[in-house]
Amino acid sequence: MELQIGDTAPDFTAETTEGTIKFHEWLGSSWGVLFSHPKDFTPVCTTELGEAARLKPEFDKRNTKIIGISVDPVDSHNRWLGDIKETQGQTVNYPVIGDPDRKVADLYGMIHPKASDTLTVRSVFFVGPDKKVKALITYPASTGRNFDEILRVLDSLQLTDAYSVSTPVNWKDGDDVIIAPAIPDDEAKQRFPKGFRTLKPYLRLTPQPNR
Ligand code: BEZ
Repeated sequence: MELQIGDTAPDFTAETTEGTIKFHEWLGSSWGVLFSHPKDFTPVCTTELGEAARLKPEFDKRNTKIIGISVDPVDSHNRWLGDIKETQGQTVNYPVIGDPDRKVADLYGMIHPKASDTLTVRSVFFVGPDKKVKALITYPASTGRNFDEILRVLDSLQLTDAYSVSTPVNWKDGDDVIIAPAIPDDEAKQRFPKGFRTLKPYLRLTPQPNR
C-alpha cells in the first residue's frame, strides 16, 4: 500500500554521494526531506539539485536534513554533480542516494508505472523527528518543484507540531494563524496571549505564536 501521512518513513541503508547512509540513524533527531529525481543528466533535475543546494542553509536553520535520490548509481551522480556546479553555480552540499536496483524508490512508491516503468516521479517526503511521514507531495517528471514551497510546508509542519494552530491559505512564516476550533475561547485567551480575532466561532486568527 502506498505510503501515507502518519506512517513511519521506511528505514533503509543506501550508498550516497556522501558514503553509506542508514536513513533513520542519519536523520537522528532532525527533520528530514527526501526528494526523488527521475534520472541523472536531465534538465529539470539539474536545476532542482542546484536550487536545493542554494537553499541548504534555510533547511539547516529549520533543523532539517535534505537528501536526494535517483535511480542511477553513485558514480553517475558524482559525474552529474560537476554539471550542476557548472550550470547552476552550486556545489551539491547534501547526499544524493544511488538507487540502481530501485530498492528505496520501491520502498517509498516513487515509481508510478502509469507515468514511467523505469523513472521515479518527483516525490517529496517530509519526515518528522519521530520518523513519521508528515507530508508528501508528488509532481510529474516534467514539472520542476518549487523549493520555496517545500520550505513553506516545513514551516507550517513545524509550527503546527508545536502549537494548537493551523495555517490558512497561502500562509507564510510570520502571517497570522488559525486557532484549533476545539480550543474554547477561555483557554485560547491563556494560550494565545497576543489575542485573537473571531471571524466565526470556528475561524479565529492569532499572530504566529513563536514570533
Ligand atoms: C528532467 O529532469 O528534465 C526530466 C527527467 C525525466 C523526464 C522528463 C524530464
